[in-house]
Amino acid sequence: EAQNERESLLIALGFARDFFVKNLQTAEGKSIGLSYFKERGFTPAIIEKFDLGYALDGWDNLLNAAKKAGFKEEILLKAGLILQKEGDASRVYDRFRNRVIFAIHNISGKPLGFGARILTKDKNQPKYINSPETPVYHKSDVLYGMFQAKKAIRDKDNCYLVEGYTDVVSLHLSGIENVVASSGTSLTDGQIKLIKRFTDQVTVLYDGDAAGIKASLRGIDLLLEGGLNVKAVVFPDGEDPDSYSRKVGSQAFQDYLESNSRDFIGFKIGLYKEEFTKNPIRKAEVIREVVQSIGKIPDPIIRSVYAKEASGLLGIEEDIIHAELNKTILKSQ
Ligand code: CTP
Ligand code: MN
Ligand code: MN
Ligand code: MN
Ligand code: MN
Repeated sequence: EAQNERESLLIALGFARDFFVKNLQTAEGKSIGLSYFKERGFTPAIIEKFDLGYALDGWDNLLNAAKKAGFKEEILLKAGLILQKEGDASRVYDRFRNRVIFAIHNISGKPLGFGARILTKDKNQPKYINSPETPVYHKSDVLYGMFQAKKAIRDKDNCYLVEGYTDVVSLHLSGIENVVASSGTSLTDGQIKLIKRFTDQVTVLYDGDAAGIKASLRGIDLLLEGGLNVKAVVFPDGEDPDSYSRKVGSQAFQDYLESNSRDFIGFKIGLYKEEFTKNPIRKAEVIREVVQSIGKIPDPIIRSVYAKEASGLLGIEEDIIHAELNKTILKSQ
């Protein structure tokens, strides 16, 4: 039974993917959706590679097409494709309307859900509307772009981690295919396990704003706890990997990644360096923060390698780092 339902949901989601993809080529889709993608530099090949699509403007375009094709409302509801009207559950309507569509795939390329971006600058509506949790879409186990990235992640033995759908697509356009997105939420153990199937090395490329830096710090600790080697890159203020790669071009972007990748210690020190060169108290706080991150690393040998590095970079005796490290490890046990 449950297996049958999963199967039906996947078929309905596949139908929706085809519908959105097809609608991008209609007159409305071309003038609104395709022109939007073109303005962002997305090519026909990349649009096809990522199953990018368009949700027509209207309340029941997908609903009617799917019903005509034999799908029951119950299945469309469970797949997260339609919604029940508030106060009148017998009335249903399309979840995704008048937006461009990013299909979210499992690692075999089957669509599990969708992210839908608004086409205007209307601040009263959410920029993205996403599929909800469903029996087939467990957000905590999925990373956007993994289907398109997995081979490159293995080959390069590194995974770039970005925040957004458009960052993933843009990096592919820049010739970087080993990239997945956390889709703006905090990383989960399931997502970290998924990465570990393909590599032990992650480079965090979050947005160059306060929220992105905060998310980087949190993501780095989670990845370290998961036993991964972590690097991070900071982008100029207000830039994300998509905007910055389009601004400077793909060669300069790749060079930027090369020369600005720091391990997590260098990343943390870099963030605070200006403050703490003048302020010893602030420096003590940074040392404690670095030590806390080192304390997340499960392997004691790797921990001790980083303790040595931190000692050198911060100009603090290794003994003191180890003493502090022992305190944080005791506390967390
Ligand atoms: N996100 C979301 N809902 C929102 C805003 C963001 O689900 N209302 C998720 C999306 O997965 C988005 C990611 O968080 O891709 C990063 O958000 P943001 O940086 O604001 O968007 P971008 O991906 O940069 O999108 P764009 O370039 O189109 O503005
Ligand atoms: Mn699950
Ligand atoms: Mn952001
Ligand atoms: Mn962004
Ligand atoms: Mn962006």
